[in-house]
Amino acid sequence: MHSPRHFALIPAAGVGARMASGRPKQYLPLGGKPVLQHVIETFHASALIAHTFVVVSPGDPYIDALVAASGPAAQRLTVIREGGDTRRLSVLNGLRAIRGAAKDDDWVLVHDAARPGLTPALVERLAASLRDDPVGGLLALPVVDTLKRSVEGGRAETTVPREGLWAAQTPQMFRYALLARALAQTADVTDESGAIEQLGLKPKLVEGSPRNFKLTLPHDLALAELHLKGQQ
Ligand code: CTP
Ligand code: MG
Repeated sequence: MHSPRHFALIPAAGVGARMASGRPKQYLPLGGKPVLQHVIETFHASALIAHTFVVVSPGDPYIDALVAASGPAAQRLTVIREGGDTRRLSVLNGLRAIRGAAKDDDWVLVHDAARPGLTPALVERLAASLRDDPVGGLLALPVVDTLKRSVEGGRAETTVPREGLWAAQTPQMFRYALLARALAQTADVTDESGAIEQLGLKPKLVEGSPRNFKLTLPHDLALAELHLKGQQ
């Protein structure tokens, strides 16, 4: 019997507009190496991951140096130069490119290039929680803050109950065929889970970690350095 494999798929074709740096945030240096390299090394360190695929923009000038710096681990890495205009399209192009390598029931773990705080332990927690799951799921954190909704002028109009609210992280892990179908059928989602939800399915929420936050704004780099030094 074929037992499903696990593939990592990293969309890395964004420009990092909100980071407003000289280069896309996935290539900024963090603790001596590019942000994206941390992510790739985490997947390489996880025995569960059969292969890692990275989707970059067609004209990406940085990825070749990063692959060259990976040494022998580069054999477990494939670059797909078909980034799209949105994250969804980058992921969809990646999925189409690995058709053949991935069987319908293989698992795909889609992970943002800009989340360098992922650890092998988090990858394994997610995979173990979903081993026999019919739908798949994602890392996420229960919301702890009191939430306010503003209407205009930055003034609180109401307090939104946080009960049942989670902040989505990545990896988001689904079977290859289901994920490809879900992403092809919708245009209006910001993550894989959103596409699966639109099919009427309910992805499982698996507790992630604050260190697995997404680098978005300039000050986030200093926070990532702190997490890296703390190794927690
Ligand atoms: N991404 C992608 N293709 C796009 C847009 C985003 O592969 N067309 C990737 C990014 O490289 C990142 C992940 O999706 O790894 C999450 O996206 P986000 O944090 O929004 O990154 P950017 O789009 O680069 O940042 P910004 O929205 O500030 O421009
Ligand atoms: Mg974006």
